[in-house]
Amino acid sequence: MKKNIILIGFMGTGKSSLGRRLARRLGYKFIDTDSAIEKVTGKTVAQIFRKDGEIRFRSEEKLQVRKLSGQSGLVVATGGGTVLDQENVDLLKQNGIFICLRADPEIILQRVKNKKRRPLLSRGDLWENITRLLKERDSSYEIAELTVDTGKLSFDEALNQIRKFLQQQGYL
Ligand code: S3P
Repeated sequence: MKKNIILIGFMGTGKSSLGRRLARRLGYKFIDTDSAIEKVTGKTVAQIFRKDGEIRFRSEEKLQVRKLSGQSGLVVATGGGTVLDQENVDLLKQNGIFICLRADPEIILQRVKNKKRRPLLSRGDLWENITRLLKERDSSYEIAELTVDTGKLSFDEALNQIRKFLQQQGYL
């Protein structure tokens, strides 16, 4: 059974855009958990946070994690907070390989300037929010078997690095 490739990491590290391309290259199906949540609820992530609250969002997120952890041959772009929940980690790990995407805060800042899409960054100072959350979450992203810096590598270089790792580990 083909393992799922689970992309984890902070907002703005490229999980969705890189994940889509990785899936295409490997011939895997691509799933973005945020998009899947938006599809089932008929609301944007920002609307869910605003109208229903973060707890509701996290429970929708968990439903998606449950659903896809029973499948195989997927590239999954998780939300930045998905692996803060141990149950999500355990479920995803059953048939998944964690790959973390990272970037320096200065790069993240440039990439997430459209704060409306990201409710956790929308209140107060953007730089302060990014650096605080990065600090809080650093250890949660350490579960990854491979970490790729999307601030220092081009898209193609990052994809090649991931592919090489997957081949070396015998996952492909
Ligand atoms: C979140 C990240 C977002 C989205 C939600 C919460 C987080 O996804 O799931 O706004 O807790 O870091 P991206 O990482 O794709 O921006």
